[in-house]
Amino acid sequence: MSVFLTDEYFERFRSLIYDASGIHFSETNRSILESRLKERVRTSAATDVAEYYGSIKADGTELNALLDSVTTNLTRFFRNTAHVQTFEYHVVPELVNLKRADGSRSLRIWSAGCSTGEEPYTFAMILREVMPNDFSAQIVASDLSLKSLMIGQEGFYTDSRVQGVPQRYLAKYFERKQGGYRISDAIRGMVRFDYHNLKHDSGLRDLDVVICRNVLIYFDEAAQKAVVDRFWQALAPVSFLFIGHSESLFGMKTGFEFVRTDWAHIYRKKRPVSHER
Ligand SMILES: C[S@@+](CC[C@H](N)C(=O)[O-])C[C@H]1O[C@@H](n2cnc3c(N)ncnc32)[C@H](O)[C@@H]1O
Repeated sequence: MSVFLTDEYFERFRSLIYDASGIHFSETNRSILESRLKERVRTSAATDVAEYYGSIKADGTELNALLDSVTTNLTRFFRNTAHVQTFEYHVVPELVNLKRADGSRSLRIWSAGCSTGEEPYTFAMILREVMPNDFSAQIVASDLSLKSLMIGQEGFYTDSRVQGVPQRYLAKYFERKQGGYRISDAIRGMVRFDYHNLKHDSGLRDLDVVICRNVLIYFDEAAQKAVVDRFWQALAPVSFLFIGHSESLFGMKTGFEFVRTDWAHIYRKKRPVSHER
């Protein structure tokens, strides 16, 4: 029986994917990579992985398609209630007070690795609920999966995908459509979807919050640290970082400190040490 993915091509593909995105395939998840590659080879005109590898080198768009196919896009509305509550009761009130004192009235948030949009829309709905009327907010939602971004941009979710949405939010922020619900224009208008690979600098600066949950888990430690350092660069001096509940910056030298709130643990940018006496 011929082997589809030889050791040589496993190595080649995994370093190609790692270099391009930070996503790390270990020996234990080799079969996942193999099955995604089978699908890509079938879809492309290539006859085997070797030919497919050659075609990626010649065509950058195929690399993007491969990256899209190896990502896991699992997400849901109101994922991790404790995070949503921390945002609602801790983060937004602190930022609103700070902005009032600074004379500013806008909040800037980045949902990095937003998948199909449930995460940025959840935080947009919360903002609508708790933000004072004279404030506005903009959420940038980015991912490297174009397929996912298109779903987010469309904002239509089947009945099964809105299951976690509290009834009150469903009635207020969604329109009933055949077979599902569409997010309201008011909420959609708060979210801007954008293609972005976390391997590179986003160019975003002075953000108040970065939400990057269940993304770092696919990276190895070096790639995680590089991404976290870029978040630091993108954030304002007083700002917050949410990562997934199974992810941690423990043992990593970063510019963030751990914050224990009544609801969940998050991170904030370390305050500069004052040398005044
Ligand atoms: C499991 S989903 C998490 C979605 C959402 N943040 C949540 O927690 O529900 C992980 C997402 O990270 C994205 N992703 C993985 N590597 C990425 C990279 N290098 N740049 C941008 N997005 C990436 C994937 O495409 C996928 O949509």
